Amino acid sequence: MKISRRYLQFIQGVSQNMIGKIGVALATSAFLVFLLMEVAWFTGLVTNAYIGLISYLALPMLFIVGLILIPLGWKRQQQLTGKSGADLLKEQFEEDGVKAGFAGSGLFQTIAILTLVNVLFMVLASTQTLHFMDQAKFCGTACHSVMNPEWQTYQVSSHANVNCVECHVGEGAKALLDSKVNGLWQMVSLSFNLYERPIPTPVHQLRPARETCEKCHWPAKHYGDELIKHVSFTNAEVTQPLYTTLALKIDAELGSEQVGVHWHIAEGVQVRYGSVDPDRKKIQWVEASYPDGSVKHYQNTRIDAEAPVLEEREMDCVDCHNRATHVYQEPETIVDRMLQEGLIATDLPYIRREALDALRTSAPDKNRGLQQVARHLPAFYQKNYPAIYFKRLTELQNISELLSTEYDRYIHPDMNIDWGVYPSNLGHKNDSGCFRCHHEDMQSVNGQTVAYDCTVCHDIFAYDSKSTFQFMTEVDTTELESAIHEYLKITNY
Ligand code: HEC
Ligand code: HEC
Ligand code: HEC
Ligand code: HEC
Ligand code: HEC
Repeated sequence: MKISRRYLQFIQGVSQNMIGKIGVALATSAFLVFLLMEVAWFTGLVTNAYIGLISYLALPMLFIVGLILIPLGWKRQQQLTGKSGADLLKEQFEEDGVKAGFAGSGLFQTIAILTLVNVLFMVLASTQTLHFMDQAKFCGTACHSVMNPEWQTYQVSSHANVNCVECHVGEGAKALLDSKVNGLWQMVSLSFNLYERPIPTPVHQLRPARETCEKCHWPAKHYGDELIKHVSFTNAEVTQPLYTTLALKIDAELGSEQVGVHWHIAEGVQVRYGSVDPDRKKIQWVEASYPDGSVKHYQNTRIDAEAPVLEEREMDCVDCHNRATHVYQEPETIVDRMLQEGLIATDLPYIRREALDALRTSAPDKNRGLQQVARHLPAFYQKNYPAIYFKRLTELQNISELLSTEYDRYIHPDMNIDWGVYPSNLGHKNDSGCFRCHHEDMQSVNGQTVAYDCTVCHDIFAYDSKSTFQFMTEVDTTELESAIHEYLKITNY
């Protein structure tokens, strides 16, 4: 008997009633469409994550439903006709199909071959599905409005080629399972609109950095001192540049005595802390264990010692690098960079102040916000400096367009994401970051504090100064900043 005839006969045999027919139709069409989609993905014809959602989630599901319906239909047929399975077999399949041959009956062979095909298909489909769901594009775009902010910041970060799952899921079966269970919950919360806006941070179920960051970054890597130069501008009518220059001491070990920022993650060192808030900002105590086995305990005298600790945690990369990928810049950073790069002309009166106002516009939705950003500068100059407005309108429009792009990337009214919602812990803005632990009230029993001197973490060469290395020059007692200049003066470089 020819294979195709045998298969056709088999299909006819199993699809005796409506249930069986639907089952066969579902399984066969899901199978064929899946194969077609694979070809389309493979050739790059289709790249959209929504279509991926259909081809990698819906089709395999339909296929399974179809397979389940087939025996259900068979069972129903038995009930309806009152015949035994053997009788039905004889009735549905030609005599020679049921009769045992050299390698089992023809029917048995057909079933075996089809089962093999099914199993192979399921393996292919599930590996493809897992692989697809691991891609950053899926995570970033499948549930658009929720992940769009993270997706946008991710695409312009140093980790734009690192898949979301490499930081968010980590390695091992348990990590995978945890993330899939969590993912199911996310699908439910998405469907019923239950998720929080903005998505709260810190992410409490993030895998330990040991399993993620440290797969690519080596804690003991030598980074040396890093020279950081910031240029900021004043808001005056004629804007002026101000320079801040720091030499950050990054290394875990710098010589035998002095240690730098990465000391917290050095070999044999462990820093644990307890916070009384879910944001890990109000740190009640911190404990450092040293390579020689000794432990030092510091208590925050600003916080009630009896207050219940909500979270106890071992410090890792993410306590400082919480914005390793989703970098939400501040408006000042954006405008200062554009002024410095010449994208915004410094000779426009009050340009910094007005550019900041444009970015900080408040609007109920993204489109309205974008319109307001685009209108702000032309409107300001038209009203206050008409001559400039008429002469440089195109330039003002170009600047506005650049500002709109930045606004579009960082501000998401539908997710309640405004400036400053996701601050970075890498420095010490607004009492957060390093100053959560490094302050005068974090004390040991004998009154020693966690170091907070301005030169523990960085040498300061200039601090909103007129020149890049101001504090290496002689102090001029007539200047406004002479006191701080005296205090921070660099003598040993
Ligand atoms: C290099 C590692 C890394 C990669 C790659 C990465 N993330 Fe993150 N993600 C983080 C860290 C670190 C946090 C902040 C955790 C914290 O503060 O507790 C975070 C936070 C988030 C949050 C919570 C909101 C926020 O901004 O704090 C979401 C949502 C998120 N990531 C989604 C994604 C998506 C989607 C992708 C891929 C397009 C992705 N992440 C890729 C490291 C990463
Ligand atoms: C799959 C590998 C991989 C993983 C996982 C990874 N990184 Fe990276 N990371 C890189 C690469 C590659 C670069 C360098 C990019 C470049 O030089 O442009 C980088 C750059 C960085 C930088 C310097 C650039 C910057 O944005 O400041 C920091 C800091 C950093 N990673 C921290 C982290 C942290 C924290 C984690 C865990 C949450 C992490 N990385 C996870 C590969 C990885
Ligand atoms: C105590 C806070 C802290 C911890 C913990 C920490 N870092 Fe850093 N790290 C810093 C600071 C501060 C810098 C310098 C920041 C800068 O370049 O702007 C830095 C710099 C880096 C850089 C180099 C960035 C560059 O631009 O060259 C990498 C890569 C990095 N860290 C990775 C890690 C990894 C991986 C871990 C965890 C194993 C980690 N860090 C733990 C604070 C920390
Ligand atoms: C969770 C609390 C915590 C946070 C947050 C934290 N540190 Fe620390 N840090 C400590 C403790 C505890 C020590 C050890 C103090 C000691 O040895 O007495 C320490 C030590 C250091 C040292 C070594 C100082 C010395 O004694 O020479 C440096 C440098 C440092 N931290 C920099 C930073 C920087 C930079 C940040 C922010 C990016 C930061 N730390 C954030 C708890 C913290
Ligand atoms: C525990 C470590 C630590 C201590 C103590 C510390 N800083 Fe910093 N500081 C940092 C880190 C980390 C950054 C971020 C550098 C970067 O931009 O990547 C920073 C950034 C800065 C900046 C640049 C920020 C900007 O807006 O451009 C200034 C200025 C500064 N610190 C001044 C000080 C002064 C003044 C003190 C003393 C009151 C001090 N710091 C104490 C770690 C520290």
